[in-house]
Amino acid sequence: MPRIAYVNGRYLPHNRAGVHIEDRGFQFADGVYEVIAISEGNLVDIEPHLERLNRSLGELNIPWPVSRRAFGFILREVISRNRVSNGSVYLQITRGVAPRDFAYPKDLKPSIVIYARGTAKPSIETASNGHKIISQPDIRWKRCDIKTVSLLPAVMAKQIAADEGAIEAWLVNEEGMVTEGTSSNAWIVTAEGELVTRQTDNLILSGITRQTVMKLAKEAGVKCVERSFTLEEAKQAKEAFSTSSTALVKPAVEIDGVQIGDGKVGPIARKLIEHYLNYMDNPS
Ligand code: PDD
Repeated sequence: MPRIAYVNGRYLPHNRAGVHIEDRGFQFADGVYEVIAISEGNLVDIEPHLERLNRSLGELNIPWPVSRRAFGFILREVISRNRVSNGSVYLQITRGVAPRDFAYPKDLKPSIVIYARGTAKPSIETASNGHKIISQPDIRWKRCDIKTVSLLPAVMAKQIAADEGAIEAWLVNEEGMVTEGTSSNAWIVTAEGELVTRQTDNLILSGITRQTVMKLAKEAGVKCVERSFTLEEAKQAKEAFSTSSTALVKPAVEIDGVQIGDGKVGPIARKLIEHYLNYMDNPS
């Protein structure tokens, strides 16, 4: 079955779907995006994702190209035309097409690109494998709260991680604090047993999975503290994991070659993986 992508009002074969060479997303990374997990054909946490998209668009003064309702319809149509049961949908809105100039005309029509990708349904067994993480300096800008397609520092850090056989790079700012992963939020269970993830501010993306995992932790009786933590604290932690719409809850057993806890996936990560996978099947 051919893959179908949505581009500016048209459903096109994936391999022939493209945008204009003067699209500002292509030339200036002047655009925003979302990645939403699909579980059994349903979009997981669609409303918070659309709310964050709304915020990202607002921060960049990009208007909604279609109504939010119509947007939700197109997302579901792309999933259905591609018959994706489990996987993710990628959606991008850029400021639009204009002759190259740093300043932009105010009346541009934003461009939309949407496509879906199927993956195997995640299971407790596959989700519970422990992974390696490395650290990298956080060289990004001061508006990481906006989900823009300007991702080069994250690409560079993730490539170093991949070259070293690690699944993710956690980014460390000039104060020695872990901000987040290149494409995920960072969590630890401290030596004292406290579940910690960084507070949301302009230096990290407010992850939707992060929000849901915080809620699930609370329901499971696990207290979560939102505060900054150092790389050193992470290396001495009992448990560490990352969260994102594609990685879900991804446990780490090594940071920069240092074993985390006893080197096995810990009980809190296990519990949260289980609860998150259940939640994906029955999102509330
Ligand atoms: N990335 N932090 C960053 C920098 C991210 O890029 C992401 C997600 C997250 C987690 O956000 P969420 O839980 O809403 O997915 C945190 C997506 C998956 C990506 O770029 O592919």
